[in-house]
Amino acid sequence: MPRTRVWKVDRDNPDPASVEEAAAIIVQGGLVAFPTETVYGLGADATCGPAVARIFRAKRRPMDNPIIVHVSCPDEVLPLVQKVDQTAEALMSRFWPGPLSILFRRSRRIPPEVTGGLDTVAIRCPDHPVALALIRAAGVPIGAPSANMSGRPSPTTAEHVLEDMEGRIEGLLDAGPTGVGLESTVVDLSCRPPVILRPGAISPEDLAPYLGEVRVADRSAGPPRSPGTKYVHYSPRARVVLVDGRPELLPPRVAELARHYSERGERVAVLCRSENVDCYQGALTLVLGPGNRPDLVARQLFARLREADLRGVTVVVAEGGFPRRGLGLAIMNRLEKASDEKITVSGGDGHGWG
Ligand code: TXA
Ligand code: MG
Repeated sequence: MPRTRVWKVDRDNPDPASVEEAAAIIVQGGLVAFPTETVYGLGADATCGPAVARIFRAKRRPMDNPIIVHVSCPDEVLPLVQKVDQTAEALMSRFWPGPLSILFRRSRRIPPEVTGGLDTVAIRCPDHPVALALIRAAGVPIGAPSANMSGRPSPTTAEHVLEDMEGRIEGLLDAGPTGVGLESTVVDLSCRPPVILRPGAISPEDLAPYLGEVRVADRSAGPPRSPGTKYVHYSPRARVVLVDGRPELLPPRVAELARHYSERGERVAVLCRSENVDCYQGALTLVLGPGNRPDLVARQLFARLREADLRGVTVVVAEGGFPRRGLGLAIMNRLEKASDEKITVSGGDGHGWG
């Protein structure tokens, strides 16, 4: 395939001619990466099985891992699903456009390639002017997983997309870095209580008023309901050692581990909060942002994991300890999925860290 065509566009006022060209590629069965408010997506016409199959080849993604369908408004959901119940209706009107993917029973408009053979389809309406303009110009729903090679950290900039996808896709709309930085929340309303299959910026606390009780899928319990959650994810090539526990207890243990691996000849980086950088003098630090700003940490996380690879790091020692609520739940979920090993530091007060 020839080089990937890149259109640089303004986030809030994208050039219509560029969007039209990108949309024409989608309509013809091609692949175009585009920004959303979460991460960059790799889009194809969601109603065209062969086009969707190309996404899986470009990403080297297992065929049984279903992809999310993107629409530009709630009305566009109707032809794609069997029915929209009141709960789904309420969630769409409260959280769309936004980082919430909702599972529905699929209609025959959605080819089996999209859903990995499942009878449900995940749909969301992204809160990004370029994504919305592309969907409208294409006139079809756009199926799009994150625009990374399968298993790699999701791309939050156009440069990340090109690192993985240059020459493997026809086009890329570049509108600069994405806002949230972590993928959408995925919620399954078909069971009682409803289940969050993947935590994201829309938190269990945000959903509770609409769903009553809501459960967060536990990876250790039973077969995964969301096929994607069983695969290695968000991983840099380096080995990632996650150190969890109360934030104030982390630096001594993280520093000790960093020294330990350095002495064994590993090229080590410490993934840390900005306020702790001075605790790791002499080590390469990858800074996430202030510990009390989960929004900034979420935005930087995948970029820092990719940076570890670019710098030839072989072991990343990562500070955990983000509170498991709000965006912190999603941050800890991605850190845990990226890690090969987790070490929990507990304090001398007799309270282990849960
Ligand atoms: O923020 C996002 O969701 C980004 C942007 C591009 O929209 N997309 C994204 O897609 O993260 P992807 O394919 O990387 O992750 C989709 C997740 C996977 O874990 C997949 O298994 C799950 O959603 N999923 C999709 N359809 C599903 C279904 N029908 N049933 C259960 N899980 C599903
Ligand atoms: Mg992904």
